[in-house]
Amino acid sequence: FPVENIRNFSIIAHVDHGKSTLADRLLEITGTISTTGHNKQVLDKLQVERERGITVKAQTASLFYNHEGTNYLLNLIDTPGHVDFNYEVSRSLSACQGVLLVVDANEGIQAQTVANFYLAFEAQLSIIPVINKIDLKNADAERVEKQIENMFDISKDECIRISAKLGTNVERVLQEVIEKIPPPDVSTNDPLKALVFDSTYDHFRGVIANIALFGGEIQKGHKIMSSHTKKTYEVSEVGILTPNEQPVQKLYAGQVGYLIAGMKEVTEAQIGDTLCLHKQPVEPLPGFKSAKPMVFAGMYPADKSEYNNIKSAVEKLTLNDSSVTVHRDSSLVLGAGWRLGFLGLLHMEVFNQRLEQEYNASVILTAPTVPYKAVLSSAKLIKEYRGEEITIINPSEFPDNSMVSAYLEPTVLGTIITPDEYIGKILALCQTRSAVQKDMVYIDEHRVMLKYLFPLNEIIVDFYDALKSLSSGYASFDYEDAGYQPADLIKMDILLNGNSVEELVTIVQKEKAFTVGKTMCERLKDVIPRQLFEIAIQAAIGSKIIARETVKPYRKDVLAKCYGGDISRKMKLLKRQAEGKKKLRKIGNVEVPKDAFISVLKRQ
Ligand code: GTP
Repeated sequence: FPVENIRNFSIIAHVDHGKSTLADRLLEITGTISTTGHNKQVLDKLQVERERGITVKAQTASLFYNHEGTNYLLNLIDTPGHVDFNYEVSRSLSACQGVLLVVDANEGIQAQTVANFYLAFEAQLSIIPVINKIDLKNADAERVEKQIENMFDISKDECIRISAKLGTNVERVLQEVIEKIPPPDVSTNDPLKALVFDSTYDHFRGVIANIALFGGEIQKGHKIMSSHTKKTYEVSEVGILTPNEQPVQKLYAGQVGYLIAGMKEVTEAQIGDTLCLHKQPVEPLPGFKSAKPMVFAGMYPADKSEYNNIKSAVEKLTLNDSSVTVHRDSSLVLGAGWRLGFLGLLHMEVFNQRLEQEYNASVILTAPTVPYKAVLSSAKLIKEYRGEEITIINPSEFPDNSMVSAYLEPTVLGTIITPDEYIGKILALCQTRSAVQKDMVYIDEHRVMLKYLFPLNEIIVDFYDALKSLSSGYASFDYEDAGYQPADLIKMDILLNGNSVEELVTIVQKEKAFTVGKTMCERLKDVIPRQLFEIAIQAAIGSKIIARETVKPYRKDVLAKCYGGDISRKMKLLKRQAEGKKKLRKIGNVEVPKDAFISVLKRQ
């Protein structure tokens, strides 16, 4: 394919505005997938994506399209919409020259529409605004066009009104992609320069790297080198994604495809790496900013004998999701494990679910925490350490305030877009989360965009749920990193029958310690099942108990329910009880359900 007939583009949007549905239609129109049967979110391959109806991993597909007698190769990269996966979006964009910015005709511009628009705008990509779902009864394309004009300075004449569901006007979208998005500015005469923008691990074939060619060409038998590790490989297969892997003879500059080159170790295909010919080293392309984890949690095998299996599953999954950071860790109760860093809570849940579904690995996650910092002061420390900043990703390692001159907490700048009737409730919610208002503008007559500075800790667990429920689902939320600010922090222990539980240690703002401690005890009381003895649940700051709840003893005799001697029924009940137990972990002598660690942090 001549480079001038190639277009690399991405679809970006707020969650549920219809990216995946539009991608399905584009695949159908170009004959990439058949129109018989019902194609639904074909690019959402992962089981977790299908179950949750969200896109987690960006996926790539090459489409062939004839426009006015010329054949074009269109490389489409589907991207996830949720805030936690923004990292995937910016990664996908580095392989593109343009984007379709999809906005729901009913909901209008939402928080992630704004965030994604700026990602594309800053990357200097061509932006084609697409207003989707015009078939809906309440669709108001005109209003959305006005918002787009107001917010992004894009003329309403440039907007394409479509229904991805019905296929209305979708062909126009393809034409605009060809006319408005420039071809990649690259040449096959240059030496090979391939950017690894994604990689997956296949049980049979090893590492499969998704690449975008910024120069040269690549084919089976080529000897290539990683600019990052300087290791060399022989290419065994190249191909395009349609969206399944389809081998081809060669990939040329401007194309997007995949490569297999005998990389066995998951660490060999670094996302952001530049591949070149062994004999022709090139200046590497700018890599990606490494993703910055916002939330940390301990992860331990549910069954200690599974440690090695889970270790290899975590390694493989982090290759596919490079935004997860991994440190080895261990806990008295839960044994050897890891401390993982995630981009957000949904990211953490999805990672956990993928471990279970794709690798059959059952793990315990401990309560999530944000990365706090402490500036050390103590004379007790060796002199050089004085004034040094340490990052605390495990609350049980929180340094005592006798050796600290200041604590710092991470903050984020949050964007909320909401119909104005909910403003009052939202302002009140933000106040309870110690947020500081930075901005408030109307994006049309009835919709407002609010900007707030939040302590990150205040939003990770349940802020989004709270916002959704008080606005009947109408408010949307997105956030970006805003650095650190001083905070008055303190460590809180949770005791079960007098024993401190390392996995439940929490760092709190001093002024909130009492409320948080009380809620955590109440939550634990709800989730810890009655056992043979009484259980005291206490929250403590140092040696001072600040809250207490009690779980009364109870003898759960399942067989008492059985009258007479129906042995098969008896066995069934016994089995059920044994299964129930699997989900519990012993802490001291108290059994705690494995999801208790996270649920105790929810405030609503
Ligand atoms: P994520 O992958 O989670 O980011 O969402 P998405 O933007 O890919 O949205 P998706 O394509 O999954 O669509 C979300 C919902 O909107 C689905 O229930 C679709 O059936 C529906 N939908 C998409 N396009 C249209 C449309 O043109 N009209 C109507 N009525 N519904 C649509």
